[in-house]
Amino acid sequence: MRVLLDCDPGIDDTFALTYLTAAHHAGELELDCVTTTAGNVEAEQCAQNAAWVLAQCNLPAIPVAAGEPQPLELALTTTPETHGETGLGYAHAPARHVATDWDMLWCDAIERGSEDLHLIVTGPMTNLAVFARRHPRHFAQLRHITVMGGSVNYPGNTTPTAEWNFWVDPHAAQEVFARTPVPITLCSLGVTEQMLLDPPRLERLVAALGETPIASALPEITRFYFEFHEDVGEGYRAQLHDLLTVLIALGRVDTAVAEATIDVEAASELMRGTVAADLRGMWEREPNARVVTSADIPSAWALVDAAFSLHARFTAGDEQLKAGYHLKAEE
Ligand code: BDR
Ligand code: CA
Repeated sequence: MRVLLDCDPGIDDTFALTYLTAAHHAGELELDCVTTTAGNVEAEQCAQNAAWVLAQCNLPAIPVAAGEPQPLELALTTTPETHGETGLGYAHAPARHVATDWDMLWCDAIERGSEDLHLIVTGPMTNLAVFARRHPRHFAQLRHITVMGGSVNYPGNTTPTAEWNFWVDPHAAQEVFARTPVPITLCSLGVTEQMLLDPPRLERLVAALGETPIASALPEITRFYFEFHEDVGEGYRAQLHDLLTVLIALGRVDTAVAEATIDVEAASELMRGTVAADLRGMWEREPNARVVTSADIPSAWALVDAAFSLHARFTAGDEQLKAGYHLKAEE
């Protein structure tokens, strides 16, 4: 399996990257490239963050590129109150030059084969919408798309009805669902909010990472996110939406899924980014989504525990691991 991650790190995106790099070290998948969307912070800052997180996870050679700087039609809104001024809480990635040829990376990845290629989007869908317009032939070849976003018959986290990623660029989400070549696996808020990290678990995860460089930054990155969740009445803990999304995309977690036809409201300010989901075939349109309705959260955490320990083994130069260790929750 090869993975193309389009993300906006972002604190929960950082946990997703930490998991993916462990799975890459373990030979479970090939992390093909990481591109960034404008969302939690600007796309270029997200790319600097992604490159730094990859380096802190001993994977500095993965290609990284910044994606489109603005949503399709609306002005960009970022969320420093949720993820910190530069997107990594109280930590800061060093400034560096980042490439912007993100769509070329996607084309190359698709040309190398699309059957085993999984596109995972954990930010607004701007890049995917632009890709569909700019490279329709390549877009049509995508076979596996998983997206974190939207609230399906569930309260929003940005407006009463809208989730952040869809709210930032509702036109992109609307357009992609209208054109997608395959049903999109949709990990929406009602499920991803359940992936809750608390301070004792963070402590265990950091210990599991051992000498891996990301271990020393993770407490300061996550403290900001804990404080944000406490400020908005969720308690001193953190919802790791994007981490759960990656685990689901890779097929690592048992889920219940419902076929649906999804549309996203883009015209009205009041309902901006709100999902309308036809779960009963009432529109008589082809299903364009597999909406994840529940996920086995304890088994998801077991996988994360195993992956973080594996980072420690990789950092320590474990030869068995380099020879092709298979990542399993029970290890
Ligand atoms: C989503 O919004 C972002 O702030 C998070 O990174 C996640 O992708 C949750 O609504
Ligand atoms: Ca995100």
